Amino acid sequence: MRIFSGIKPTGDSTLGNYSGGFRQYAATQEQGDATFCIVDLHAITVEYDPADLRERTLDLFAMLIATGLDPDRTTVFAQSHVTAHAEASWLLSAVAGYGQLGRMTQFKEKGREQEHVASALFNYPVLMAGDILLYQTDIVPIGDDQRQHLELTRDIAERFNGRYGEVFTVPEGVYPEVGARIMSLQDPSAKMGKTGSSDQGTVRMLDSPEAILKKFKTAVTDSGREVRRADDKPGISNLIDIMSVATGSTPAAVESEYVDAGYGAFKLAVGEAVVALLEPIRLRYTELRTDEGELLRLLAGGADRARATSAPTLERMYEAMGFARL
Ligand code: AMP
Ligand code: TRP
Repeated sequence: MRIFSGIKPTGDSTLGNYSGGFRQYAATQEQGDATFCIVDLHAITVEYDPADLRERTLDLFAMLIATGLDPDRTTVFAQSHVTAHAEASWLLSAVAGYGQLGRMTQFKEKGREQEHVASALFNYPVLMAGDILLYQTDIVPIGDDQRQHLELTRDIAERFNGRYGEVFTVPEGVYPEVGARIMSLQDPSAKMGKTGSSDQGTVRMLDSPEAILKKFKTAVTDSGREVRRADDKPGISNLIDIMSVATGSTPAAVESEYVDAGYGAFKLAVGEAVVALLEPIRLRYTELRTDEGELLRLLAGGADRARATSAPTLERMYEAMGFARL
């Protein structure tokens, strides 16, 4: 089985990224032939600081290893190192629909936040489709916010296969059963994101234990007293999910342990569980991040492997589309 996912080197990684991304990557790496991509070309689709991009790329690479990816057995690389991604994106833009791209929620939401909306933001999902399809991917571990982009990728693959001949595997999205959408601790109706959501509501993977405990202590809860998942208790439901992600217990087990504990004690317990989860990751990260030479060496190895895997599919795309190849 071939596994592929991507993550943007923008902002500090959050507990949401851990839940929908990192922990799934490390788990799926055991199930087959896995490739993970630091999507630096996607990072330039919104306003960003060019002085940061290189650092953020290395930060994220160190975090991918610190959360359990083994760069010797799994291909981990930066998108811009493998030019097939930019090429595939252009070729696939011939099958992606203009109307369909305009309906993407992420495009509409991020577009609203930007003073100048770049055409790259509009084309973002086409580049993502190319990322996935170049590796003949069977499964894509992602969080819930990427569901629409994954459906679009499947559409693009089917349309391409129908029009030019069978080139692509049509991929399936894999979403975690619990924690596919971690919400802000300050506003349980908003996704916990790297950018946009409030700092106090966002748990960053490199936050100090004190900062994490404080964020949980001040987390917004709902009316009532029982620690129980319910539609009218979005704050507590989110905390139960986070507890489940941090400890590996099911949400039902978390409920039965804490149902009578009271919100204050429960928030403290969730904070402590998250500190216990993130502290060893932070220590590993800090150690890995100090050796830039080694990180660059490992990235170069990943790029070599990614080039070798993606090249035959790119060639088949050009051929199927009728280009005069040399
Ligand atoms: P990004 O940082 O936007 O590139 O996202 C990387 C991965 O983390 C994607 O698979 C996202 O779906 C996932 N992700 C981001 N935010 C959250 C969240 N709040 N809850 C669950 N998964 C998330
Ligand atoms: N769009 C994804 C996100 O914001 C990142 C991404 C880019 C991706 N290419 C990908 C995810 C390919 C999965 C597969 O999180």
